[in-house]
Amino acid sequence: MHFFLIARAVGLLASGLALSVSAQGLDAQGLAALDAAIQPLASKIVEWRRDIHQHPELSGQEERTARLVAEHLRSLGMEVQTGVGGTGVVGLLRGGQPGKTVALRADMDALPVEEKTGLPFASKVRAEYLGKQVPVMHACGHDAHVAMLMGAAQALAGMRKSLHGNVKFIFQPAEEGAPVEADAQGNVPSFGAKAMIEDGALKGVDAIYGLHITASLPSGALGYRSGPLMAGSDSFSIQIEGRGGHGSAPWNTVDPVVAASQVVLGLQTVVSRQLNISHEPAVLTIGSIQGGTRYNIISDNVEMLGTLRTFDEDMRGDAHKRIVATAEQIAASSGAKAKVKFGPVAYPVTVNHEQLTAASLPALQLAAQGRAFVIPKVSGSEDFSEFQKEVPGFFYVLGAPPEGKSHVDAPSNHSALFDIDEKQLPTGARSLAALAVDFLQRNR
Ligand code: NI
Repeated sequence: MHFFLIARAVGLLASGLALSVSAQGLDAQGLAALDAAIQPLASKIVEWRRDIHQHPELSGQEERTARLVAEHLRSLGMEVQTGVGGTGVVGLLRGGQPGKTVALRADMDALPVEEKTGLPFASKVRAEYLGKQVPVMHACGHDAHVAMLMGAAQALAGMRKSLHGNVKFIFQPAEEGAPVEADAQGNVPSFGAKAMIEDGALKGVDAIYGLHITASLPSGALGYRSGPLMAGSDSFSIQIEGRGGHGSAPWNTVDPVVAASQVVLGLQTVVSRQLNISHEPAVLTIGSIQGGTRYNIISDNVEMLGTLRTFDEDMRGDAHKRIVATAEQIAASSGAKAKVKFGPVAYPVTVNHEQLTAASLPALQLAAQGRAFVIPKVSGSEDFSEFQKEVPGFFYVLGAPPEGKSHVDAPSNHSALFDIDEKQLPTGARSLAALAVDFLQRNR
């Protein structure tokens, strides 16, 4: 997940929801059974997490992690598919009773970040990424995601006879981005969740759950939100074509630097004046602008790169049209030409299915011991959204700032100092297992 600051003030949002548990869903007794299966695995989950942390792999390169996962799932007697959507792994646990199929998903990739935590199991790994040697670190906690889901898999495999349906375990590569550079047209082949779906990972799946760990929520809290949770993310490039010449005689040229400057300012009105931000917020940032070679030469062209964040698919489509119109027409006013291209980043909005969220809440509260809270929207993005486009899905967040640090000042996800409280790993594993059992029981 490309996700920074979740509500720093989330403690204030504690709702203390006391929802009663649905008659057919997971009850306290069911949770106790899950606990009894998960607790003995706590030290193993920590071991897996440290092993994966010390051997981080970049998006699309998760060979070792995938092997570890596949061996584990096979040892639990599951049907295992490897090479799904690249290095993805899918395990199918068939329950003893007939019923639906629920999927649990963990992402496996690390980031090009040089670890500075000083942990005894800190990464020293370097790898090649997009043609460059880079340091590699699990700076987004996906090591914890894999370990927690391996724990949940083992616990659920131990109770397969009583399961009312099947559980699919989806270990996904390349959540953080495309493993390859875009081609000359700015396109990349499918990767991550999308590539797994194209390879059939969701076949037969009725609902999917996923979890992200963060240092920015209080320890042991589970953060959730019905409807849009994380932003849709689109990258875009704008080429401004002018006509170069001498800096002393701009009247003989079409100056793309001035046109680009006007376009940057004009684009700010897409969010502030054109989109209905009383419906959902949006963010538009131009992060790069390049053109020209020398102080007294007017350049032929300028290239800009930017990102758009939206929380509604209709608004996202509308924003695309407005970005194109604003850039083209402002450039045209000075005789320049703007060419807008969206991509290669194109993550849909992460939208939690409203009925699934409402129905899952009692089990989530049970697993969180009453510490599940509504969190604000996150302007980062997550390709779990691709799964949610296909089947009802619910994505939530586990708070785990490292011991001795508060969620307010703990280094955030993607930081070189990012760390977690491993004591919360069983909470995450338990919540995933609880949501799966609950879904199968409610829908038997
Ligand atoms: Ni992440």
